[in-house]
This record gives sequence, structure tokens and C-alpha cells, in this order.
Amino acid sequence: MDSIARDADVEDELSTLFTRLSRGRGRKAGFPGADDLDYSPLWRFFDFELNNIGDPEDEPTFVHHTKQYERVAVDFFADLFGAPEGDHWGYVTTGSTECLQYGLLRARQYYPDAITYYSAASHYKVARVLRDLRMPGVCVPATPNGEMSYVDLSEALVDHPGTPVIIVATAGTTMTEAVDSLTDITAVLERHDVLDRYIHVDAALSGIPLGLLPAASRPSFDFRSGADSIGFSLHKFLATRMPGGIVIARNSPPPGTRARVPYTGAADTTIGCSRNGHIALMAWYAVRTLGVDGLRRRAEEAWDTAAYLVDRLTTMSWPAWRNPNAMTVVLATPPKQIRHDWQLATEPDGWSHYVCLPGRGRSQVDAFVADLEAVLDGVLAQPQALNQPPSSQPSTVVSQPSTVVTHAPNTRAA
Ligand SMILES: Cc1ncc(COP(=O)(O)O)c(C=O)c1O
Repeated sequence: MDSIARDADVEDELSTLFTRLSRGRGRKAGFPGADDLDYSPLWRFFDFELNNIGDPEDEPTFVHHTKQYERVAVDFFADLFGAPEGDHWGYVTTGSTECLQYGLLRARQYYPDAITYYSAASHYKVARVLRDLRMPGVCVPATPNGEMSYVDLSEALVDHPGTPVIIVATAGTTMTEAVDSLTDITAVLERHDVLDRYIHVDAALSGIPLGLLPAASRPSFDFRSGADSIGFSLHKFLATRMPGGIVIARNSPPPGTRARVPYTGAADTTIGCSRNGHIALMAWYAVRTLGVDGLRRRAEEAWDTAAYLVDRLTTMSWPAWRNPNAMTVVLATPPKQIRHDWQLATEPDGWSHYVCLPGRGRSQVDAFVADLEAVLDGVLAQPQALNQPPSSQPSTVVSQPSTVVTHAPNTRAA
């Protein structure tokens, strides 16, 4: 293999980058990308180009792909989410945004004149993808815990009687990890006699952990509760280091897309042409080595850490709360130094969040709380330097508050 010539400057730049990344590693708190799983047995495959071009079920005309592993991973998660046996289809995407795009394109194929409803707490890419696809959308207000307001969904539907409905529900919103309930959403749709409907679930971070809960405590977010497609990210809970996702849909791809492209040997059913074979292999490796029990242990560790962080913060009277089954802790925005050092995601409303992913355990929480206490001790000597924590938000776990906080206009956007 030809090595790429590297001079001293390049070495220096790489060392600087490596040092910066290594230093930030134990203090990743605000963004939901885990990095604790050991994928090193797969590093040797990075010497190969691995391209899962086109449909995951079609063997391409070349051998450097990992589609057989991709199919195992897709089936594992289809099973976890209760997809109809033998009547589902899915593939490895570039991330949850492509999953969303796929879900919406598919929904539009079924219902070209539909209006899409999504909550104000859903990811910003929902509105963006709708705009790009020129699909009309209605943003429904969210409740204080970040869940879609079903009362407002019902009111929004009144404005468009007889129009087919696409719902983008979120299982684990970005800031508060709230879960939109498909039981409540479908009840609203039924009350409005909406028979022509499609539900895509954006389960970027929380799909896997929620799917591992026992049936009795699992929120209604998956195929068992009426989802037509579900997408989630691989780089979040599964720690794949590089961005990726999986989308799974009921039924095989819509008709007209199954013909194989002669030069690739694979049908053109996916949004991208070339697709990442390495991340498909990593997804397979994670499910093959951890299985349901190993994944569940990771989820339980994350929930335990989140409960511990809420406890530590509330004990020191720093407002903090989390949604049921969330590994995301919402906390009053700490002083700037903490936000910077701990890479906290922060909203202008005075709240930040800390995502207790697997690998970010109790000792990291202890270090965070110690830093926060030290900084607060410093700024309390000059109280004007401390941002005022918001006082109107819940300081304990909330389940279903009824007050609507986010007011977005119920407009049909072009
Ligand atoms: C709820 C939700 N949806 C979608 C996304 C975007 O995911 P991706 O970066 O995998 O496209 C995120 C990212 O954090 C998210 O939190």
C-alpha cells in the first residue's frame, strides 16, 4: 500500500488535533454521541473501501460491501421496534435526518396532498426537510416537558378536514428527550376520522433504549403503536464514532423502485447511491456482541446516571429534572465557564442539558458537579456574574404537564 508522505507540519497538526479531542473526551456532556464501545476489532476493515450501494437486499456487482451484515442489523432493530415480521424494509442511512427524509418521501408517495404535523420541540431538520421537499407542514405547540400537545394537534386538524395527514412524532426530543405518544396521536386522528395517514417516528437517540424497556413500561412509539417508519442514529446510543442511522419502514419499498440498476446490480431504493459499509458493519458488530441484554445494560446504566445527576443537582438546589426513561437531564443553564468546559447544549430560555450516555457514568457526573460547585463558589462572591436560573420550570421529573409553552403558528408553510 502506498503511504501518503507526511512532513513534520502535518504530524504537528495531527498531534494538536489528537490532543484537543483527547482533552475534551471526558467532558462531553451536551451532545448525544457516545464513544465508549470498543470497535477496534473492526479497524482492519478500514483498509478497504466498503460501499453498500443501493438496495440493502441486492448483492452488488462488486464484493467490497457489507450488506449481509447490514440486513442482520436492520432485522434486529425491526424486531426490537415490533415491525411486521417479513413485511418491513430498511437500510443504513447517513443519520436520522436522512431517515426523516426517507419517511417523508415515502409518506408523500402514499399521500401526495397530505399536510404534515410535527411538534415545536421536534428537531429543526423536520421543518427544513419539509421545506426542501415543498411539503406543507403545521408546527403544533409542545407541552413544558417537550411532548407534542395533543389538544393543539386536535385543534390544528379542525382547520383541514378531509386532508390526509402525515405525522412526524419524536421519540426523544433533542433538548428534553420527551416522547410523543402514538396512543394519544392516533386517538386524536381517530376522533377526526382521519383514515389516510402516515406516521414517521424520529427516534434519533432514544429509539434503541426505549425499545429495550419491558412492554408494560415502554412508551407507545413504535410499529406496535401505529408507526409506519422509524429512524434513529447509530452514532448516538451505539457509539459508532462516525455519523449514521437506520430507517425501517412497514412493507417493502413502494412499487416502481425495484428494478436493478445494471451497472451497480442493486435497485435504486435508497436516497443515497453509495452508502457507508463500515458503519453497517459497526451496527452489526454492536448487536452481535452486545445483544438485547448487553444493550439493555447500557441503557440502564445511562438512566441510572441521569437519576444520579438530577439527585446531585437538586441536592445543591440547582434546578434540574428529566423526563421518564430519559438519559437527558435538563438543568438551569450554568455559568459560561461550565458551559464551555463541559460542551453543554444550551437554549436561550435559560435551560441546558446534560446527556448521560453510556460511558458518561457517575464519576463524570461527580467531576461535573465538583466543577459547578467550584465555579459557583467563585461567582457567588460577585453574584451579578451568575445567570439567573429560570424559576418557572419544573424542578422534578414531569410526566404530562398540560400547559402549552411553545406557541408556533398553525400555518400551512409552502
Ligand atoms: C430528535 C433528533 N432528530 C434528529 C436529529 C438529527 O440526527 P442526525 O444528526 O443523525 O441526522 C437529532 C440530532 O441530535 C435529534 O436529536
